[in-house]
Amino acid sequence: MTRKLFVKSYGCQMNVYDSHRMADTLAPEGFVETASPDDADLVILNTCNIREKAADKVYSELGRIRELKEAAAADGRRVTVAVAGCVAQAEGNEIFRRERSVDVVVGPQSYHRLPDILRRAEHVRTIDTEFPAEDKFGQLAQPTRAAIRKRGLSAFITVQEGCDKFCTFCVVPYTRGAEVSRPAAKIIAEAEHLAGAGVREITLLGQNVNAYHGEDGNGRTTTLGRLMHRLADIPGIARLRYSTSHPCDMNDDLVAAHRDLPALMPQLHLPVQSGSDRILAAMNRGHTRADYLRQIERLRAARPDIAFSSDFIVGFPGETEQDFGDTLRLLGEVGFASAYSFKYSPRPGTPAAGMEQVPEAVKNERLRRLQSAIEKCQAVFMDACVGMTFDVLFDKPGRHPGQIVGRSPYLQPVPVIGPASLIGEIAPVTILEVRTNSLFGALAHAPAQPAQSRETVGA
Ligand code: SAH
Ligand code: SF4
Ligand code: F3S
Repeated sequence: MTRKLFVKSYGCQMNVYDSHRMADTLAPEGFVETASPDDADLVILNTCNIREKAADKVYSELGRIRELKEAAAADGRRVTVAVAGCVAQAEGNEIFRRERSVDVVVGPQSYHRLPDILRRAEHVRTIDTEFPAEDKFGQLAQPTRAAIRKRGLSAFITVQEGCDKFCTFCVVPYTRGAEVSRPAAKIIAEAEHLAGAGVREITLLGQNVNAYHGEDGNGRTTTLGRLMHRLADIPGIARLRYSTSHPCDMNDDLVAAHRDLPALMPQLHLPVQSGSDRILAAMNRGHTRADYLRQIERLRAARPDIAFSSDFIVGFPGETEQDFGDTLRLLGEVGFASAYSFKYSPRPGTPAAGMEQVPEAVKNERLRRLQSAIEKCQAVFMDACVGMTFDVLFDKPGRHPGQIVGRSPYLQPVPVIGPASLIGEIAPVTILEVRTNSLFGALAHAPAQPAQSRETVGA
């Protein structure tokens, strides 16, 4: 019997990956994905708990799903509602108490058990927020070729999950558990499977992806840098990325991979959170402002055209105007290509939630100032791209006839006039003009050479 599945992902890229793997695991059970909750027999909300706003969104969404579920029941159709992800892990049974429409609560470490959980949920509300010992990734099904093609040329692979860092503001160590790395052979097999179906770009995921230390098959552990070398050798894989990294785990292998592997894109998301040593210490980040700047220098020495993005938190408990000034200065010193900024959100059970809070009005004002400084950095970076030639991976037709759109090494959308036959291919493009968030360019007539981007893009 075919049933329709609607999965919605909130939060980070790992949640998107997890949603795909849940859908893949439910496919052999007869579930086919649908784009709308209206006709779904099973709705999965894959939730995020990182900030209060993200967690609250779940309950408003569940209110809407309850109406759908009740309307379907009036027509004699049963709709099963599952809450997955980090809110499920953090709130557990509380979700059943707050929302009567929910049938299943399932935490990120139990997704491989979904088929069984759903069978049980036909009779009784079912919760699974354990951290089971069995190999979750080994039991989650791989996508079919058709599913891979539908998801596009770029794919995610989780290589590391969980976090042992315990930054004082963060829920992730509680919701995702302790750091676990997958064996290299499993990751390579997954990448080969994706490449075989046409995937050209892989982003390796982990909460602390550069702390990766999976088995290499000889009873030893390997590093992310060495894993990159093996992935770069897979036919068809032209681009590699990884996210999210911690400044304390930038080891020599990984820095060397940036120097030696043209497939490893010259773009790195390296969250710093604050430019103030006092606040970094209170956050338990394990590094100073100078340590962070040293990592940036090392990476630039290895790969001069590398561009950085980051995450910032404003209004962390105890942040003074001077601390915030240090953050603004760091932004200028590094020259980030882009950055995300967040107001500190106290999370239940984390140490910082119990510290003396910064008033909301102060947070709002600092966020505005930080965001306008980030916008200026972004504009500087975009403007500097004009006149450069770099490789673009074309992934779809453009909005106008005769146009195709791809991504630069720095992830900016690049529309050009070009043949649809280039979709799925990489070709060098000369950037002519900045248009809001994209770079308009023209195909350069040289054949694509991966090494070329390194010589022509000076950061
Ligand atoms: N694993 C990633 C972080 C995931 S959370 C890492 O270690 O970088 C993504 C971002 O959300 C963090 O970098 C941080 O800037 C922000 N964040 C996390 N907890 C937060 C909180 N309590 N309030 C505001 N922002 C937070
Ligand atoms: Fe959260 Fe810090 Fe771990 Fe990142 S390193 S997931 S911010 S505790
Ligand atoms: Fe959110 Fe969990 Fe990812 S809290 S950011 S979904 S690890």
